[in-house]
Amino acid sequence: MASAPGKVILFGEHAVVYGHPAIAAATDQRTVVEVDCCGDRTTVNGFRIHDRFHSYLLTSVERVWKRPDAVRIQTEGGVPSASGTGSSAALTVACVAALRRLQGHEDIPGLAQAAFEVERATQGGGSPTDTSTSTAGGGIAISSSLDPPKVGERLWDVGWHVPGEERSWTVERIDMPPLTVVLGNSGVKGRTDEQVAKVANAAKKNAVVRDSLAEIGALTREAVPALRKKDWAAVGALMDKAHSRLHTLGVNHPAVETLIQAVRAAPGTLGCKITGAGGGGSMVVLTDRPAVAAKAIEAAGGTAYGVTLGSPGARLEKMAAVEP
Ligand code: PMV
Repeated sequence: MASAPGKVILFGEHAVVYGHPAIAAATDQRTVVEVDCCGDRTTVNGFRIHDRFHSYLLTSVERVWKRPDAVRIQTEGGVPSASGTGSSAALTVACVAALRRLQGHEDIPGLAQAAFEVERATQGGGSPTDTSTSTAGGGIAISSSLDPPKVGERLWDVGWHVPGEERSWTVERIDMPPLTVVLGNSGVKGRTDEQVAKVANAAKKNAVVRDSLAEIGALTREAVPALRKKDWAAVGALMDKAHSRLHTLGVNHPAVETLIQAVRAAPGTLGCKITGAGGGGSMVVLTDRPAVAAKAIEAAGGTAYGVTLGSPGARLEKMAAVEP
């Protein structure tokens, strides 16, 4: 049995796909996956595994489980789905951790790499931000190894190594003070693969989009010392700027923008932005008055909840019942 946390991207979503840095942190929402081997057919919560309902779990089994027998998978999800808070990464990391443990592998960089490969194969693109954050816990900075931010202890490199498509990112630990933020879920389910493809198309055609991606990278770099100094006013102002660049990329959604406007008008708000791929999903607010921000989000039609950032990463919850 293994568990893994959800995540919030504070800075750098989308830009990280193009090698710019991102900052993300694990939340206190966790998904637990229990894997029990040696069945005669692979099931998820008692149902036969199916690519339509269990795409991440199916890919995890196909790529990570090397033994001939089938597995029974039980999941307990604590991260809201398709809302930009890392539910698929938490599910993937926890499942891959349990499958690897049953086969005698427990190393954390190997888990980060395997979980990224599963996520990438399932959604067809993207960066290892979500899976690395869910694996590492705490706060991380991640960027293409061509341009590492060099802000903290280097944890590992993770990448996509197939002929003609070599790409790797450096993951560093950043010293993130425990931070409570308010998330506002619009209820519109955004699809990461669609938003990543949309930005890729726009970036091909439009220099303003390419500039915005680079500007998001620059804002992320500025955020590292601001976070370290706990200069929350500066962090909030950078979040507002990042939001406007994400809007330029075309990943904002009217339902999310309604929540952004509502929370900006609320007392105590220091900054807010989309978090994750967008096209719906969630926004994140840094505020001195979490209850006021939550009320503003709910009044504007969203679902609000506070999360504490910097929670532990993937971990085995107990020894598997069946040893390899
Ligand atoms: O929508 P999420 O929470 O999976 O975040 C995606 C972040 C992107 O930068 C848009 C894509 C990626 O893989 O980095």
